[in-house]
Parts: sequence; C-alpha cells; structure tokens
Amino acid sequence: MPGGPRQSAAAPSAMHALTANPAATRAPLPARCMAFRPPARGPYAAAMEPTPPSTSPGAPLLRARGLCLTLPAAAGPVNILRGVDLDLAAGETVGLVGPSGSGKTSLLMLLAGLERPTSGSLDFAGRDLTGLDEDALARWRRDHVGIVFQSFHLIQGMTAAENVAVPLELAGRRDAAAVAARLLEAVGLGHRLRHLPTQLSGGEQQRVALARALAARPALLLADEPTGNLDQETGEVVMALLFRLCAEAGAAVLLITHDPALTAHCARVVRLADGRLGAP
Ligand SMILES: Nc1ncnc2c1ncn2[C@@H]1O[C@H](COP(=O)(O)OP(=O)(O)O)[C@@H](O)[C@H]1O
Ligand SMILES: [Mg+2]
Repeated sequence: MPGGPRQSAAAPSAMHALTANPAATRAPLPARCMAFRPPARGPYAAAMEPTPPSTSPGAPLLRARGLCLTLPAAAGPVNILRGVDLDLAAGETVGLVGPSGSGKTSLLMLLAGLERPTSGSLDFAGRDLTGLDEDALARWRRDHVGIVFQSFHLIQGMTAAENVAVPLELAGRRDAAAVAARLLEAVGLGHRLRHLPTQLSGGEQQRVALARALAARPALLLADEPTGNLDQETGEVVMALLFRLCAEAGAAVLLITHDPALTAHCARVVRLADGRLGAP
C-alpha cells in the first residue's frame, strides 16, 4: 500500500448500533446455512433495548454526496474516490462490488468515520458527520455502527465472551458479560465463551466478530469481504447468520464481496469503478 499507514484502523471493538425493516427480498439460503438459526425473537431482540436513530419518514439512514478521497503517495497524490453518492435506507441490504483496488475498503472506512473524506458530505439520520470531531465520531460509531472485517480483528488476549462484551461495556452496560454470553449462544458459540481467538476456527472467529459487531444493535453494519478468509461452506453459514441477525435487529447492511451468491441476497447492488458508484 503506497503512502504509508492510514490513520484509521481503530479497534473494531469501538463500533456499533441500529433501525428497522427486516423485510428485504431474499431467496432462501441453502439448508446447511441454517445451522445456527436464532429464534424469531432471539437473544438479540430480547437482550437489547433498541434505540433507533430518529429519521424523518422517507429520509435515508445514511446519505453520502460527492465523497472524494485523495491520499498522498510517494509517486504523487492518489485519487481513490472521485465523487461517491450513496443512499442507504434503514434496514436496507446493499452489496458493494468492484475490482480489487477500486476503493471499496476506502469507502467503507469513510462511511464508518474511520477515515475523513477529502471533500463531500456524509449524513447519518439527518446528522452531518463530517463536522464531528474524533471523540464525537467515536461515540457515533459506538452507538450506531458495527463493522466486520475479512480478518476478524478480534482482540487476541481476550476470550470470545470478553471480545463481545467490549462494546457493551463501552456503552455502559452493567450486564455486558451476561448479554455477551447470550449473543454468543445466538451465533452457536455458547460452548466457546472462554476460548481465546487462537483456539477458535476461522468461522468461529468470524461468528464472534459478528456477535460483537451487532452487540449494541447498530443501525448500520459494514462488512468488508467477511467471508474472504473462510471456505465456502463456512462462509455461507456466517453470511446466513449475518443476514438473519441484521434482519432481526433491523440493521442496514453494506456488504463488500466478490461473491455473486452473496450479493444475490442483497436488496440492491452497487459497483465502484473509477472512483464512483454505478450500477453493477
Ligand atoms: N494509505 C494509502 N495511501 C495511498 N493510497 C492508498 C492507501 N491505501 C490504499 N491506497 C490505494 O487506494 C486504492 C483503493 O484501495 P482499497 O480501498 O483498499 O481498494 P479495494 O478495497 O477495492 O481493493 C488502491 O489503489 C490502493 O493502492
Ligand atoms: Mg478491500
């Protein structure tokens, strides 16, 4: 990666939150993907009091206009994003595709407030995010955004339960440990609470990461190639969980993936090319 390290890469622990409309049109996933199917009113619904951000009717949850990102590099500035417009409705599932190096991860970092746009505007539930300072952005992320990364980003010295409890503790939940245990049960890992990440398979680690990302019932889940390090069958299980739990929580999903089988489960797909979003 040219130009040195990015500022971003904040601990994924500090990101999370929520809104409604579980009813996207999705074809059923293969039967083996239903292995960890949580009940209709599962632990996520039961454990957390949803605190939806107030959006005026019809207004998008997330609204990006003219987002540009230019980063310095040894050979000169790199124009990564050249004016991205994107609306994401509450509860909507959107697939984001594009060739490697087209700026998908960069866009996700902007939408998560982990990186600042060079120019353009970004609103969440009608609130301008570009004017927030770092502390306010971190609080916004804690309350409203969950992120799942390709490489899991679990905190290595912490057990599965401790990893999931982190965002709940950040949100001031005294019952963080008990809620974390219920959330891990919901992703089929009730028997792995005290395991460290190194003692878990890739699929198990991603399920822990998913439980953590959704712990604070985010309105928005951002997922960057979440099955990229998993075999196909494990990836299908993780994605079935992701879609199901997000629908249950009413969270909107922006999913970066190269897998057409996964974008088929999104209500809409957009493609990033030449620094802009268009139809796939
Ligand atoms: N810190 C950086 N400085 C300069 N250029 C960068 C930096 N990080 C990424 N890039 C460049 O930005 C482009 C988009 O990268 P990225 O968002 O990771 O793409 P994608 O996720 O679609 O593969 C690439 O050309 C990459 O080399
Ligand atoms: Mg990427």
